[in-house]
Amino acid sequence: MKVLIVGGGGREHSLAWMMNQAPKVEKVFCAPGNAGTAIEGENVDIDVEDIDGLVEFGKKEGIGLTVVGPEVPLTMGIVDAFEAAGLRIFGASKKAAEIEGSKVFTKRLMAKYNVPTGFFEVFNSPDDARAYIKEVGAPIVVKADGLAAGKGVIVCQTVEEADEAVHIIMEEKRFGDAGDTVVIEEFLTGEEASFLAFSDGKNVLPLATSQDHKPIFDDDKGPNTGGMGAYSPAPVVTKEIFDQVMEEVMIRTVNAMASEGRPYKGVLYAGLMIEDGKARVLEFNARYGDPEAQPLLVRVDGDIVEVMEAVVDERLDEITLNWHDSPSICVVMASEGYPGSYETGKVITGIDEADAMDGVKVFHAGTALKDGKIVTAGGRVLGVTALGDDIPDAIERAYRACDVIKWDGAYYRRDIGAKAMKFLK
Ligand code: AMP
Ligand code: GLY
Repeated sequence: MKVLIVGGGGREHSLAWMMNQAPKVEKVFCAPGNAGTAIEGENVDIDVEDIDGLVEFGKKEGIGLTVVGPEVPLTMGIVDAFEAAGLRIFGASKKAAEIEGSKVFTKRLMAKYNVPTGFFEVFNSPDDARAYIKEVGAPIVVKADGLAAGKGVIVCQTVEEADEAVHIIMEEKRFGDAGDTVVIEEFLTGEEASFLAFSDGKNVLPLATSQDHKPIFDDDKGPNTGGMGAYSPAPVVTKEIFDQVMEEVMIRTVNAMASEGRPYKGVLYAGLMIEDGKARVLEFNARYGDPEAQPLLVRVDGDIVEVMEAVVDERLDEITLNWHDSPSICVVMASEGYPGSYETGKVITGIDEADAMDGVKVFHAGTALKDGKIVTAGGRVLGVTALGDDIPDAIERAYRACDVIKWDGAYYRRDIGAKAMKFLK
């Protein structure tokens, strides 16, 4: 079977690498891919938003399964378009992807079906939004309703900051139409974790737990990024919390989506805030996390293609998914200046040496091939991923691998995994 992966980040390289190992996969295509996916198979120069072009490619090549990485093509309806063309595709339909595409939809869904989350109100007018902020006070969180490349969430410590956030989103329209409507919601405290589960619309099969590190600097300082590193499992998700999340969040939400006529097929990602032994939902994503996919996929002990096909065919109840006991960690190496502006085209050395280290796999994100050399081509450049005997061992292996990878302006956090260590003491 030929498979197509839509996207070009670290998540997509880890999917390409994993799917390449599946017995029935003959060839992996990635659109548009990066220098790493080119090693696993073949890159196709089609943009993730060019849905007609992707459908045409799928038909021409006889692609047996397409897997979608990023949220934008999902919310645009890539899954519906492939299905209409008779092509098999793993991912949420346009109606199901609303769970990531509209924060208003999702907060209302959670309220209606009693999925634990913070209090909130929805506003179309800046004046009404400000009146509410004045009433409830700070800290408070202001969110643009629509997709804003992960930037439409403003955590405000004071009422003044929240007023300014309303201005940025609703009046200045920094995120365009995504800011026509805002959600103002309770500021939740605690520790964050990522909880991903496969769903075929009815059945829910959880993945292992994981935790991202969103801010750019150590100790979670500085502006948020797409994610600077992740590890799995996340010990903050105890057995009790795992059970609570399965029942009150994942199964409840999948059932809610079915009741609303939006059956959820694909991978559902809940961003959780955990405090006092209970998890509440910050947001949902309609896809694999990036970088969470990297440490999760290296721990899969089995055939991920079989699982994804069972989702597409709505027979997930027949599947069990095993995990290696070894914990894993992924350290994201980024371009200096990210998440602000940065330079590209820097020659990267040491990837092969790092990749050859015991337990290490280097996934490419923003990389490209230029004159036979691998060069930087994005903000997040590599996801240096390692399995270890235990968490400290995995951390040590990943950082030893980072040490041998060099380019002019390479930056990475030094504390990925540190949050897990406190549970080991
Ligand atoms: P999101 O793009 O919705 O994942 O939000 C980005 C980050 O903002 C999250 O990872 C949290 O760190 C933070 N955040 C979002 N919503 C809240 C909230 N209600 N309370 C506290 N922090 C939040
Ligand atoms: N790692 C966060 C995300 O994928 O949205």
